[in-house]
Amino acid sequence: MAESSVRSIAPAKGKLGVLCVGLGAVASTFIAGVELARRGKARPFGSLTQMATIRLGKRTEQRAPLIKDFVPLAGLDDLVFGAWDPIPDNAYEAALKCGVLDRHEHVEVIRDFLSKITPMPAVFDQHYVKRLQGSNVKTGKSKRELAEALRKDIRDFKSKSGCERLVVVWCASTEIFISPGPAHESLASFERAMEANDPTIAPSMLYAWAALMENVPFANGAPNLTVDAPALVALAEQRRVAIGGKDFKTGQTMVKTVLSPMFKARMLGVSGWYSTNILGNRDGEVLDDPESFKTKEESKLGVLEYILQPKMYPELYGQLYHKVRINYYPPRGDNKEGWDNIDIFGWCGYPMQIKVDFLCRDSILAAPLVLDLALFFDLAQRAGFAGVQEWLSFYFKSPQVAPGLYPEHDLFIQHTKLKNTLRYLMGEEQITHLGVEYYEYGKD
Ligand SMILES: NC(=O)c1ccc[n+]([C@@H]2O[C@H](COP(=O)([O-])OP(=O)(O)OC[C@H]3O[C@@H](n4cnc5c(N)ncnc54)[C@H](O)[C@@H]3O)[C@@H](O)[C@H]2O)c1
Repeated sequence: MAESSVRSIAPAKGKLGVLCVGLGAVASTFIAGVELARRGKARPFGSLTQMATIRLGKRTEQRAPLIKDFVPLAGLDDLVFGAWDPIPDNAYEAALKCGVLDRHEHVEVIRDFLSKITPMPAVFDQHYVKRLQGSNVKTGKSKRELAEALRKDIRDFKSKSGCERLVVVWCASTEIFISPGPAHESLASFERAMEANDPTIAPSMLYAWAALMENVPFANGAPNLTVDAPALVALAEQRRVAIGGKDFKTGQTMVKTVLSPMFKARMLGVSGWYSTNILGNRDGEVLDDPESFKTKEESKLGVLEYILQPKMYPELYGQLYHKVRINYYPPRGDNKEGWDNIDIFGWCGYPMQIKVDFLCRDSILAAPLVLDLALFFDLAQRAGFAGVQEWLSFYFKSPQVAPGLYPEHDLFIQHTKLKNTLRYLMGEEQITHLGVEYYEYGKD
């Protein structure tokens, strides 16, 4: 029996503009992939919104529509793209430079389309991303003025493109580590800090503020603080806009949030987890700077603590030594290699080891996440889901949650939460996996 629908969802009418902050490897691979899929030249593998089904009702009912047929999402043909980047390369040049997609099979064939996507001048300051330099940069007397210029970009893009709705996804470099401080405490302190050019207000926060002021949802694909600050959460709630982050969960952390729940489910101990990566793209170069790496490290380290709960299980996880390294190694480009050595122990304390060697492609894993986030954030907005979108934790290494809650990191709990939220939105029953009714002991 279906529960009554909890909200009315505005239809996905007209075009949806996806504004990417950053037009590097992830953003150009995402945009190119959508266009290739639209032209029937590639398949959107890795995307739940395009590929996944959702079970409805009992197993015996055999109802499992595609998610995109179940919830009212924008279609790929309705997407329009824009971006900001301090590097003036258009999407065609960016795709060639980052070298993720095959030049002849996947880039030249859509050159006409990609060449037209040129980045708007960015709000950029090298203080926050030490290893980058860019010429396509806005100037202004104060951070407030720069943020107002971003608001104007958003309005102009909307009117020129004829989009009905917009979403902003941060696909730009990882900024230096910033702890939440007095400037981020309230909207008033945040706005004062923008006027005063306070150094704890990073460019990513200005994009987030601008998007929220224009009532545009904002998803953060990097580990920067950005919208994970009380001032911006308050602004999102006040203006009824969807926000979320942080840091796309793609390679090593995705694996980590699948393996660690397995150890915990079987009550196997973990004494050490050593994770290292080699990565040769621009992201790898940026993360070679210790200040940007610290932001990433915090995001990558947190997951085990929450999943394994060492305070609750001190014998099993209390002594866990966890180390994460990212090494910039140019020959590999975007083809990251992530190694994990995991020291575990079982019955009577006997040690065992697991080794993982994930030869992945960073942007190939991240691009479908950008698509899903854009479509689901737009859905959330149309459904009146304001503020932090915890149900989209599935996509993030370091999910934002309401104050007082700890984040859920287990990939399959996140997956269940996402699908149950879609069922909830559409007035369908939650799936509990209880299933006693099929057995004698479940009958009255
Ligand atoms: N690829 C993955 O698997 C993955 C996973 C998690 C997070 N991320 C994060 O996603 C982001 C993008 O990764 P990428 O591989 O595309 O990196 P990239 O270096 O290829 O692209 C980032 C782009 O952002 C631009 N940029 C930097 N500061 C900016 C600003 N203030 N405004 C606008 N543009 C700005 C840079 O010039 C660059 O072109 C990084 O922060 C990365 O850490 C990627």
